[in-house]
Amino acid sequence: MEVKLKVFRYNPEDDKKKHFDTFTLEVEPTDRVLDLLEQAKAYQDGTLTFRRSCAHGICGSDAMRINGVNRLACKVLVKDLKSKTITVEPLLGLAVEKDLVVDMEPFFDHYKSVMPYFVNNDPPPSKERLQSPEERARFDDTTKCILCASCTTSCPSFWANDKYIGPSAIVNAHRFIFDSRDQAAKERLEFINEQFGTHRCHTIFNCTDACPREIQVTKALNEVKKAIATGRLD
Ligand code: SF4
Ligand code: FES
Repeated sequence: MEVKLKVFRYNPEDDKKKHFDTFTLEVEPTDRVLDLLEQAKAYQDGTLTFRRSCAHGICGSDAMRINGVNRLACKVLVKDLKSKTITVEPLLGLAVEKDLVVDMEPFFDHYKSVMPYFVNNDPPPSKERLQSPEERARFDDTTKCILCASCTTSCPSFWANDKYIGPSAIVNAHRFIFDSRDQAAKERLEFINEQFGTHRCHTIFNCTDACPREIQVTKALNEVKKAIATGRLD
């Protein structure tokens, strides 16, 4: 089948205006949008620029807007889009560096701000730090994050003010806040309770809809809000 792939283009070195280029491609219904981008780059325009690595929904590097919705290009099939014209654009709310590549540094700065690592100052035990299956299940959902930024860049609060740390950072804080072995929950919750933390979340659910890992993002944010309000982690 023939499809038209309409791609956002911007080259800061020689483009004065951001624009779209349309590539006419012969594709299979089971091709992924990433396959279409690869085909356009390989056979029509080698300057077309986008991020990708694993091509299997694991690395999170090819998040982009596909027909107006944040998706991983390697996980969206042509047949699922039900359209002969497929529009791909960079994520919103982050500066475009070239074509579909955005500057991820502000996103990762927010991620780093919530201490997304295990903190425990007790002397290490002779074997592992034990945890029951129930305790492990408490934060299982938020361990699945691949840092694709689809949630944060679909959030109107983040578009309005990029100082908001965004749902992804809070999801990654949740993963450690509710880990029974960790000791830095209080510090993380105090930070998230500041001006650019959960106060900016208006429960719009765009983040949950955008997540390619099907993480219950809004639920995780609500659990963090509740922990801030009650001071309890149950
Ligand atoms: Fe991507 Fe989901 Fe993680 Fe957000 S929570 S960064 S959408 S994997
Ligand atoms: Fe790795 Fe799509 S290329 S998630």
